[in-house]
Amino acid sequence: MQSIFTLLFGIMIGYVVLPATKMSQVPAKVDSDRAQFKTNPAWDSTSRNTASISRNANIRGNPNPNEHFVDQAVYRVPADEAVYSAPAKSITADFLTDKPKMKQDGNLEDTLETKNLEILRANFAIMGSQSLPTSATPIVMKTTKLPDSKRKKIMITGGAGFVGSHLVDKLMMEGQEVIVVDNFFTGQKRNIEHWLHHPNFSLIVHDVTEPIMLEVDQIYHLACPASPPHYQYNPVKTIKTSTMGTINMLGLAKRVHARMLLTSTSEIYGDPLEHPQKESYWGNVNTIGPRSCYDEGKRVAETMMYSYRNQNQVEVRVARIFNTFGPRMHPNDGRVVSNFIIQALQNKPITIYGNGEQTRSFQYVSDLVEGLYSLMNADYDLPVNLGNPDEYSVKEFAHYIKNITSSDSIISMLPKNEDDPSQRKPDISTAKAQLGWFPQVSVRDGLEHTIKYFQRVLDESGEIVPTGPGAAKPEA
Ligand SMILES: NC(=O)c1ccc[n+]([C@@H]2O[C@H](COP(=O)([O-])OP(=O)(O)OC[C@H]3O[C@@H](n4cnc5c(N)ncnc54)[C@H](O)[C@@H]3O)[C@@H](O)[C@H]2O)c1
Repeated sequence: MQSIFTLLFGIMIGYVVLPATKMSQVPAKVDSDRAQFKTNPAWDSTSRNTASISRNANIRGNPNPNEHFVDQAVYRVPADEAVYSAPAKSITADFLTDKPKMKQDGNLEDTLETKNLEILRANFAIMGSQSLPTSATPIVMKTTKLPDSKRKKIMITGGAGFVGSHLVDKLMMEGQEVIVVDNFFTGQKRNIEHWLHHPNFSLIVHDVTEPIMLEVDQIYHLACPASPPHYQYNPVKTIKTSTMGTINMLGLAKRVHARMLLTSTSEIYGDPLEHPQKESYWGNVNTIGPRSCYDEGKRVAETMMYSYRNQNQVEVRVARIFNTFGPRMHPNDGRVVSNFIIQALQNKPITIYGNGEQTRSFQYVSDLVEGLYSLMNADYDLPVNLGNPDEYSVKEFAHYIKNITSSDSIISMLPKNEDDPSQRKPDISTAKAQLGWFPQVSVRDGLEHTIKYFQRVLDESGEIVPTGPGAAKPEA
């Protein structure tokens, strides 16, 4: 009796369990009707590399070109489908040196080959030497060719955003290798698409709250939504971005010995009791208000920067940025400049929250980019205010924009936002003394560029409904 059970058990193992185990090793994607499987002789179960080397060797043309290694199995495809192993069609002309064929009358021969050659040459000349004009950036920017020894690898987190994309332009034109790391929360591909083709430019879609391993010489750490409706939309994410994001970037900076610059903010001064604000002022911040996820996040980020400097000798730079405006601002960022311009251009009411007596100072984005660049490359490692000390009341500014745009908008007063600071004006004596930096672009000139930009955005999109003060997801 016992031997009958043993026999039945053996048959069951043989017919049911073993075939099932074998089937589970078959790669799911391979079509078993068209492919014949066998165990890969080159596969060493302890090393995936062996298989991938074999696969590459195979693709380049081994004696059996129809045989492709797919992880743990080899499959055969009919000869007419073996596209990977077909020898690459060689390019007959060296397009850099070969002369296009001339006709006897001196004109270029009108052959496909000659035309292709010309197109290749034109592409080659453009690809590595300039930006391509796009609707968001309709100008051409030339790039300098730096020798390898002088070219730095520079990472910009938040590089697809408003400020980051202008910094990308500066560094690309200088000839540096630029790596943008962005999760596209408030950033837009259109801000950087004019560089996507360039060999010096890379885009990595990544969230800085996760670590990243790269080899870089400098890190500009900008990733963080900057406008109140956007950073209040998901306050927990905002604080994670400032804290975990900054720790991750500092970890990277420490590992690869990169210098790192943090874009902090005038918001760390809160509703300031000192005016104008010097870097030595410690601020007046509500720790639990609607803006605290941003303000406190940036304050902790600053603390982390100096902890890594003191404990791990990371080279740090901290810029405290005041209100900045310019082309590529998010049309729905709900801030004073973008809202007023969009409302004025559409002859809609210009909305002021509060009595309009609160003051702001506005710097043009190219000034900020110069300041960030000078700070990164200077020897000074304490926080530096970057802003334009020209101070306007919000009401005065609304009238100013209404006049420049020749708008018929009315100015309408709405209730004040909670924790909205009553005055903001940078003391920029540190930036002047340490960096030789001060704003060059007048608010009037900056507004003209910005108005043109928003007019283009409006022409493309038809209508823009400005974002109010409440938390809102950025919409393209
Ligand atoms: N613009 C200003 O007036 C101003 C003022 C003070 C400080 N700043 C600081 O300057 C920096 C840039 O501001 P901006 O005006 O260009 O803002 P922005 O919102 O246009 O750009 C921020 C960029 O960071 C990206 N980002 C956000 N969270 C991320 C995450 N978790 N991982 C990866 N990428 C992420 C966004 O997609 C966007 O591209 C911010 O750090 C901001 O705090 C700006």
